[in-house]
Amino acid sequence: MSYKHTVLWNVDNLKEGESASPAIIEAGLCINRGEAVAFPTETVYGLGADAANDKAVDEIFAAKGRPGDNPLIVHIGKLEQWQDLASYVPDMAQKLATSFWPGPLTLVVPKKQTVSEKVTAGLSSVAVRMPDHAVARALINAAGVPVAAPSANRSGRPSPTKAEHVQYDLDGRIAGILNGGDAGYGLESTVVDCTGEKAVILRPGGITKEQIESVLGVNQVQQTSTIREEEAPKAPGMKYRHYAPSSPLVLVDDHMENYIEKERQAGKKVGVLAVEENKNTFQPLAHLFISLGSVENLEDIAAHLYHNLRIADQSDVDIILCETFLKRGIGTAIMNRLEKAASGS
Ligand code: TXA
Ligand code: MG
Repeated sequence: MSYKHTVLWNVDNLKEGESASPAIIEAGLCINRGEAVAFPTETVYGLGADAANDKAVDEIFAAKGRPGDNPLIVHIGKLEQWQDLASYVPDMAQKLATSFWPGPLTLVVPKKQTVSEKVTAGLSSVAVRMPDHAVARALINAAGVPVAAPSANRSGRPSPTKAEHVQYDLDGRIAGILNGGDAGYGLESTVVDCTGEKAVILRPGGITKEQIESVLGVNQVQQTSTIREEEAPKAPGMKYRHYAPSSPLVLVDDHMENYIEKERQAGKKVGVLAVEENKNTFQPLAHLFISLGSVENLEDIAAHLYHNLRIADQSDVDIILCETFLKRGIGTAIMNRLEKAASGS
């Protein structure tokens, strides 16, 4: 693709409810012109374009190198915009939106015919989310249109949680980046399919299964962790390699010392990702030790996980060994991303 000058706008201190700054108005105009702009959300940075403009949506796929059969989430700033996208809003989707929007929850609902096939990759449903971030919502409202936005990384790289990550992946490929500091949760939104009888969690995230069950009832919620290639893809993104560092990542449940020793004996430089509590034990044994944060604070571990994977990726290690976590609460989303990074599929 041809080189684009990428503008970096600093909007670090916009407060919730504040009217848009000149930088956000300019970024909104870029979206109106059919360009793609990166912006912070409370999950990860997104790469946004006018969802109703097919050429603009093409810009997103080209900049990321994203396969065209992987649909995009449409971001809204006001609840009314849902009516432009959904042919109808199922009861459970309404309940979940009332409880968790704005927030890190994406709802898959039957789409209106007018929603572009480029956005939904030909599916009869559309994924919608109202982000809980002052800059994200100010941008969507400045643009005045629903904004299609995947995570603002090159396909196959960890999602960006800082403007620097977006720059590293997409500088020269997009119109601009709104730098609003670190994204909050650090992992992408929970995606819930609301088109069937029960709610199906297609991707775990910041809103946990437990929270969704508390709104809909325990019997009304199912979870699909991974979908095998041969099955009809429910969330087409799940069949692609995601979040993957370039050196192999291996998950280690127990006896980390033995794994480090084995790899070292094979002549490998070993990187270890583990909790702060295990630093003193593992650091002396490994070529590189990266602290994931305290096991007492899984939210903090989630917030920095992609940054830590990027650091590991840019180091000179031959293999990365990473500790595992209990699949409970936010631990489910952390393990989902680590398992994807480790599987290389
Ligand atoms: O937190 C997030 O969700 C971030 C921020 C920017 O909002 N966005 C994000 O987008 O993670 P992306 O494109 O990286 O992931 C979207 C996921 C993909 O797995 C995609 O296949 C799935 O949502 N998806 C999109 N539309 C869908 C649909 N109609 N039915 C099922 N899955 C869908
Ligand atoms: Mg993504």
